[in-house]
Amino acid sequence: MADPKTPPFRPETLAISHGWDPEDALRSAKPPIFMTATFTYPSAQTAKDVHRAYFDGDGPEAGGALHIYSRLGHPGLDILEARLAAIDGAEAALAYCSGMAAHTAVALAYLKPGEGVVHGRPFYSGVDGLFNEIMPQFGAHGTAWTDGCDEANMWAACEAAMAKGPVALLAAESPGNPTAALVDLDLLVKIAGRIEAAQGRRPIVMVDNTLLGPFHQRPIEHGVDLVVTSLTKYCAGHSDLLAGAISGRKDLIAPLKLQRLTWGNHLDPYNAWLVLRSLETVHIRTERAMENALAVAEWLRAHPKVAGVTYLGFTPEGTAARAVFERQCRGAGSTFSFHLHGGEAEAFRMLDQLRLLKMAVNLGGSNTLICHSASTTHYAVSSENRLASGITDGTIRLSVGLEHVDDIIADLAQAFEVV
Ligand SMILES: Cc1ncc(COP(=O)(O)O)c(C=O)c1O
Repeated sequence: MADPKTPPFRPETLAISHGWDPEDALRSAKPPIFMTATFTYPSAQTAKDVHRAYFDGDGPEAGGALHIYSRLGHPGLDILEARLAAIDGAEAALAYCSGMAAHTAVALAYLKPGEGVVHGRPFYSGVDGLFNEIMPQFGAHGTAWTDGCDEANMWAACEAAMAKGPVALLAAESPGNPTAALVDLDLLVKIAGRIEAAQGRRPIVMVDNTLLGPFHQRPIEHGVDLVVTSLTKYCAGHSDLLAGAISGRKDLIAPLKLQRLTWGNHLDPYNAWLVLRSLETVHIRTERAMENALAVAEWLRAHPKVAGVTYLGFTPEGTAARAVFERQCRGAGSTFSFHLHGGEAEAFRMLDQLRLLKMAVNLGGSNTLICHSASTTHYAVSSENRLASGITDGTIRLSVGLEHVDDIIADLAQAFEVV
């Protein structure tokens, strides 16, 4: 075991203090919030040098702490991005005003007209829409595979995409929400190599790591190029802000940073500070939430009114998905679905009876959130596609939080009585 006083530190340690030096602000133990739109210069030459450092990456101010204007970057972003990269084990990171802003940044930077993205399905609906409805308006095309643990299924989607044009991006969300479908990240990277052999150019491999977060799944260690995380969920963890991040290879992050100053979708100083604060505890919050989730999932599985529970920890032994789960995931997460016997009427009766659990569509927060998938998160999805993803009219998504687990179960138990 490494000496905890000697770098490189473990991610849990990096989450507490990496990127902040008290020398930078009156020996303040914690970073202040730099609530400013712009930054001043002691001389005209310094102003020029700071711009040179930002745009050309060289000169006397290169690597320095001076800033220009908060849309281009600010001290809170510097600290947060250094910490995010360190936790993910990535070369660099960027923080955005939402998870969707981060996904959009990747798509706009790395999908050109005529090029394609091959991706897993299910993918968060906003991202699926980005790939298949928005990007086609810019001449790019999206193609989906349906089984991220099956090479033949994934490769068939890649071949169909290459028939339309070069594949520039290979994208996956794992585990998928709310089906817990896994994508084998080693296989994903292998597929990128096969695409390179077939078309003479390796696509960028991007993984959405929102559902398990940086402490329970480590995509960079599998050779993934870019990791996108909706920080809104587990990393910020209190259902009180929106933020997103991209971490990965420096040469891919640098162009994104330059484009961000044009899109203006950076994370602002106050929310950057809040996320930084939340990162200190994300590992213990997610561990506790996962412990609670396991107990709730087991209780639900044994309940006579429940037809089934789609929980990563219950992935059947002997399946390809189980092997991927054991190799790739350090926990089973705390967001999952259960399926009531019956349909919308039974689900609504149960939901309306809840006293402690809150009905809302976010996940990964400190409070347990619950929603009826078909009429909320998947409202805009056709019933045929919903059923294909395993979502019935009796499907309910649960994001288990940090309340005492007995109170969560007691609330569900009394609500089940009216079903
Ligand atoms: C897996 C996943 N990725 C990305 C997003 C988008 O993140 P945000 O809501 O922060 O824009 C979500 C939102 O629900 C999500 O669940």
